[in-house]
Amino acid sequence: MKKNPLKRELIQTKDGSKTLIIKDLEETYHSKHGALQEANHVFIDNGLKLVNDYEINILELGFGTGLNVLVTFDEYLKKNKIQKINYFGVEKYPIFLQEASELSYYELFPDKKLQDLSLKIHETEWEKLIQLDVNFYLKKIKDDFFNIKNLDLPLIDIVYFDCFGARVQPDLWEKEIFEMVADKMKTGGLLTTYSSKGSVRRALQDLGFDVEKKQGPPGKREMINAWKK
Ligand SMILES: C[S@@+](CC[C@H](N)C(=O)[O-])C[C@H]1O[C@@H](n2cnc3c(N)ncnc32)[C@H](O)[C@@H]1O
Repeated sequence: MKKNPLKRELIQTKDGSKTLIIKDLEETYHSKHGALQEANHVFIDNGLKLVNDYEINILELGFGTGLNVLVTFDEYLKKNKIQKINYFGVEKYPIFLQEASELSYYELFPDKKLQDLSLKIHETEWEKLIQLDVNFYLKKIKDDFFNIKNLDLPLIDIVYFDCFGARVQPDLWEKEIFEMVADKMKTGGLLTTYSSKGSVRRALQDLGFDVEKKQGPPGKREMINAWKK
């Protein structure tokens, strides 16, 4: 990003949930059509729900507001905690606790434990695997996406590819990044992203992924599911 990525403001999206915007770049952390709807559609309905193994390693680029951890935990509760989730979130520019508090994601979930997690996930130590619940672990990794190849990770089942758009960070949607991410994934693993760009689909196909176009979240026609062969 060309400008200071820390200058963020809060906005309300169309489903009532809030998100952050980098004003100088006019780039939001989630869809303006609905942050919560988008997170559930892209990463739960077209992500977590498609993988039924007992133990699942999730890698997220990037951790940001933590909303994807919360929707993942919500689904874990809905499945009665029967899946073991190890969640690895990479982030170079963590948000401030004050911002997490103003996002008030606790309002989105009826479960008390989940409400408490909306702030707790921002307070936990970085670089440490922290047990958030009996079968749910979180490790936040403060690093650059371009260093993913050097990270010590278990083989990943699902990648939540949630970078800023190619308009502001084109290098994050190139083959080089996808190659590094693919190297961390299990055969049969799933990469899910809100993007549907042709160049992204082709880069993933070149790397040997089976690429599917799926219906996008509200406000977006399509998105991508890519399965590692
Ligand atoms: C679309 S936003 C994240 C959305 C996040 N999943 C959420 O639900 O809030 C993209 C994130 O990538 C982070 N980021 C941008 N460039 C990065 C880089 N080179 N390395 C690591 N993180 C980066 C940003 O700080 C931001 O938190």
